Amino acid sequence: MIPVMDRGFIFGDGVYEVIPVYSKRAFRLKEHLHRLQHSLDGIRLDNPYSIDEWTAIINKLVEAHQDEDQYLYLHITRGTAKRDHAFPNPPVSPTVFMMSSPLLSPPASLLQSGVCAVTAQDNRWLRCDIKSIALLPNVLLRQTAVDAGCAETILIRQGTDGEGEFMTEGSASNIFVVKDGTLIAPPKDNLMLPGITYDVILELAAANAIPTLVRKVGVAEVFSADELLMTSSTKEVMSITKLDGKPVGSGKPGVMFAKLHPLYQTFKRDVMRAS
Ligand code: PDD
Repeated sequence: MIPVMDRGFIFGDGVYEVIPVYSKRAFRLKEHLHRLQHSLDGIRLDNPYSIDEWTAIINKLVEAHQDEDQYLYLHITRGTAKRDHAFPNPPVSPTVFMMSSPLLSPPASLLQSGVCAVTAQDNRWLRCDIKSIALLPNVLLRQTAVDAGCAETILIRQGTDGEGEFMTEGSASNIFVVKDGTLIAPPKDNLMLPGITYDVILELAAANAIPTLVRKVGVAEVFSADELLMTSSTKEVMSITKLDGKPVGSGKPGVMFAKLHPLYQTFKRDVMRAS
């Protein structure tokens, strides 16, 4: 039972993680737990468990689940207290919730065709680096894509100090632009979630002599990209082949996707499935 007065329910006062599990091994667990700590620090909530304790609880849940490949969700709220926006004083114990579901990788048909995306103004707050459970803006932005029959919404922010509009990320994924053989990624700052898959993709690119640039991505670059890629723990890496109804590059998954997708699969298989 979760009390109705839980601050997660009342205020969305909590943070979460989504960790893919392959062959019953949590993928990049150390990095996910590190990002969880960053999110907890960002909302000034003490971590209820040590890394070793988290690892033990996560492994127990993963073992108990029947599926080899899983999608593990964990969530910590500031606990249950009388409704007051300020933190409970004295503090109450946090609520920790965890569940695991079967992980279904994207179907081959979508990998072959690519997916479509739409653009929308990024109207979220200025701490998008915190993996907050308060996801209403992301919910509405992703529904915009679904309403258009698409897979993702690419978010555009208005620059300050005369800089033009730039791309931050997707409503539930990170976005890369490909131009002239270079993989271009926005920097991990307060305006996007520091994706674990994003890091893996940049590491794989570096290890395979694929040129990369990490810098602000102007909106015009998004619309003139040769390829657009989206990454997340559940979608891995996918090609966006249509944006706002127009083809991206050739309108088909391109050379960069053709290199990175197998590299990601090999990495998963070799690193995660090795016995
Ligand atoms: N979301 N940006 C946003 C806003 C996200 O919600 C996600 C992932 C990412 C990608 O991060 P990662 O590679 O670490 O999964 C980027 C998860 C999958 C979710 O909320 O279900």
